[in-house]
Amino acid sequence: MGKMTLTGKGRRWAQSGHPWVYADDIAEGKGEPGELLPVEGPNGEALGWALFSTSSRIALRMVTREADQPKRAFWLDLVERAVEVRRRHGMLEPEGACRLLAGDADGLPGMVVDRYGDVLVLQCGTQGADRMRDFLLELLREVLEIPVRTVVDRSDTSVRRFENLETRVETIVGEPPETILVREGNLQYEVDVFAGHKTGHYLDQSRNRLKAAPLARGGRVLDAFSYDGLFGIRAALEGAERVLCLEQNEASCARLLRNAERNGVADRVEVRRTNCMRALRAMTEEEERFELVVLDPPAFARNRREVAGAERGYVELNRRGLALARPGGSLVSASCSYNVRPEDFVEFLGKAARLSGREAWMEELAGAAPDHPYRVTLPESHYLKCAFLRVG
Ligand SMILES: C[S@@+](CC[C@H](N)C(=O)[O-])C[C@H]1O[C@@H](n2cnc3c(N)ncnc32)[C@H](O)[C@@H]1O
Repeated sequence: MGKMTLTGKGRRWAQSGHPWVYADDIAEGKGEPGELLPVEGPNGEALGWALFSTSSRIALRMVTREADQPKRAFWLDLVERAVEVRRRHGMLEPEGACRLLAGDADGLPGMVVDRYGDVLVLQCGTQGADRMRDFLLELLREVLEIPVRTVVDRSDTSVRRFENLETRVETIVGEPPETILVREGNLQYEVDVFAGHKTGHYLDQSRNRLKAAPLARGGRVLDAFSYDGLFGIRAALEGAERVLCLEQNEASCARLLRNAERNGVADRVEVRRTNCMRALRAMTEEEERFELVVLDPPAFARNRREVAGAERGYVELNRRGLALARPGGSLVSASCSYNVRPEDFVEFLGKAARLSGREAWMEELAGAAPDHPYRVTLPESHYLKCAFLRVG
């Protein structure tokens, strides 16, 4: 087995607590793609063990700071702790859904596993995760007390190209599932684990949808960038008078309609397949007003260089969102760009308020649901900001 020796700068960085070590900070060392290797400082001092990537800029992902090699019991403990967190948050209902393993945020580099009822969907984002996939899946099945009928490997995420890995989408346990229905309290929704976004659903917004729904009671809701419409349908179930969902993806619009029917709110939910930016501009000009406006766009900044452009996008979008909220109503506005930090996002919301001539009060700046943990030594795990604003 090889080992990795860091430069002095690399050692200082590794000791700062961040679990990623960059290729430039390795003085010497060789390893196989995804291999678990011991990591040393420049004087041979043990710094821990890491999963190695031969092609990513993030060459090492530390899994332990101990000198001893992590064995089965170490990994089992990590998986057990991850599952326990979900259990504690009431996320293991048999027909429910949640992220069971959140990759690096749970100390399991690159390995994401989501659960939709008795179907598991995993996503490997690194060479290390590819190598450990079957082992971690075996541990997870040992720990989970709920039955698993099917496991789908949905490793088609774009980050795999940094790791020089092919994409794949395949059923690796059981039969390919037909329509998957998930229950979340009184809401039932459909998930397409093969072609839907992410592993099929935006699980990270589950708690924010619950918080937003009562804000619309008795009024009109605008759910922009709605995907399968769960902000809007949740609000309809809570008593919203009418819901307008805007989404450009055809398959999502079709699922949205089926979800609305399934939940008995189709008569109050309308879906328009459209470009939100254009539709919001037209609605602003027509001076439409909503009790609750939800803006949940895709990431506008995928790296630091894109932040300036993203600022223009977020300011413009939120200016329209504020204009469309009735005085005394609410704007729930999300950003899932890690590169837009929470303080940047609040600044953009302030600019949007000034430009729209409306006042806004931040009632809560929420993050992702607790099955998407925010690991404080890994700021990258805090990507979702969801602002709950009261609009004047
Ligand atoms: C972050 S997801 C929304 C998740 C959703 N709110 C939920 O809770 O499940 C963003 C959605 O915006 C859609 N989208 C992206 N650009 C769009 C545009 N210009 N107009 C309309 N929809 C767009 C994507 O297809 C995607 O479904």
